[in-house]
Amino acid sequence: MQLIGPFIQILPLTDMPIRGPLGERHLRIMEHGGLLVAAGRVVDVGGYQDMKAQYPDAELHFIDTPQVLLPGFIDCHTHICFSGTRSRDYSMRIEGQSYLDIARAGGGIWSSVTQTRAASQEELAALVVQRANRHLQEGVTTIEVKSGYGLNAAQELKMLRAIRDAGVHTKASLVSTCLAAHLVPKDFEGDEKAYLEWIIADLLPQVQQERLSNRVDIFIEQTAFSPAAAMPFLEAAASLGFDLTVHADQFTAGSAQLAVAVHARSADHLEASDDAAIRALGGADTVAVVLPGASLGLGMQYAPARRLLDAGAILAIASDWNPGSAPMGDLLMQAAVLSAAEKLSAAEVLAGLTIRAAHALGLEDRGVLRYGWFADMQSYPCADYRDILYYQGKMKPQHVWKEGILVK
Ligand code: NIG
Ligand code: FE
Repeated sequence: MQLIGPFIQILPLTDMPIRGPLGERHLRIMEHGGLLVAAGRVVDVGGYQDMKAQYPDAELHFIDTPQVLLPGFIDCHTHICFSGTRSRDYSMRIEGQSYLDIARAGGGIWSSVTQTRAASQEELAALVVQRANRHLQEGVTTIEVKSGYGLNAAQELKMLRAIRDAGVHTKASLVSTCLAAHLVPKDFEGDEKAYLEWIIADLLPQVQQERLSNRVDIFIEQTAFSPAAAMPFLEAAASLGFDLTVHADQFTAGSAQLAVAVHARSADHLEASDDAAIRALGGADTVAVVLPGASLGLGMQYAPARRLLDAGAILAIASDWNPGSAPMGDLLMQAAVLSAAEKLSAAEVLAGLTIRAAHALGLEDRGVLRYGWFADMQSYPCADYRDILYYQGKMKPQHVWKEGILVK
């Protein structure tokens, strides 16, 4: 057993409502606290001096400078399994071309498919480890990673195997998602319906057989898949036993309601969501995942995070880290900037980066500092939790623990 502390403040983030608006009173800040860890799990959180007396045998990990302790962040939407760059797309956008136009002209996602197909499984795994470790150093202890730059059996399986292999070589937890339905590949003979049917009949059974993922995603958009084709695809994936998530309402409204209708765990993006989408997500168990990094990368409006919360939605914030629309990959910076723009409270932002993001991934063992849950944590070099968003992501954690082990 290890007693870690004292911390000026601990924000265990327990007992927060899972949906809707949050304020400071929901944070239940503990002053001069300590945290007891055994076998990678939280055993107790309380006053440091009391705990020292209560657990005299615990090994002490003494924190000798002012720090604020939080649960590790959970990034519930990334595409960090890719090779190459899309800086050319980025400069074309700055010069006035749109993301969808660049995609139609053969750039966009397809360009990352070509570059990722050319990389070996080992090279891809090494790239995922590198990016996951960068995230871990910035306090992100669990990371969802999608396939979706392979788009045929061999290449999608290569990506998912690379993500699996990477998980062995980083201390961050990786959660993989099959996004073969990212785009109809240029080299597939058939239409979107035929491609989606191929994924269901051929690819997903192989994914299951190798236990590579239990989550399926689809990009519903004008340049990708139509709602009409997506619906039966998602229903079929669910009946195979996959959890669902959807790239919804990024440029065109209408698909968030579809995500709710198929009981997807999350509907992600939502930059173009309208009143009907906000109402639907406000009453649903489907988590509304907003991706400010994609708005920053594409120079477009943020998702209506404030209105989603006010409607009662479960709001999570993720990085969407990918080579095309969100190359930065700095989750805290993006969440802080969104918080200023959308008037989100610290409690709403922190819940969106922890417990509500865990909900999007169906994980009930992390995201708060509570007895029996993973001791995934991070501490910031400040005496007041408000400094963390105030510095807009420039202040990084001083220490990070993954399952009780110090990794920074
Ligand atoms: O979430 N919108 C679709 N997919 C990714 C972008 C992928 C890419 O452009 O490479 C996204 O933004
Ligand atoms: Fe995405």
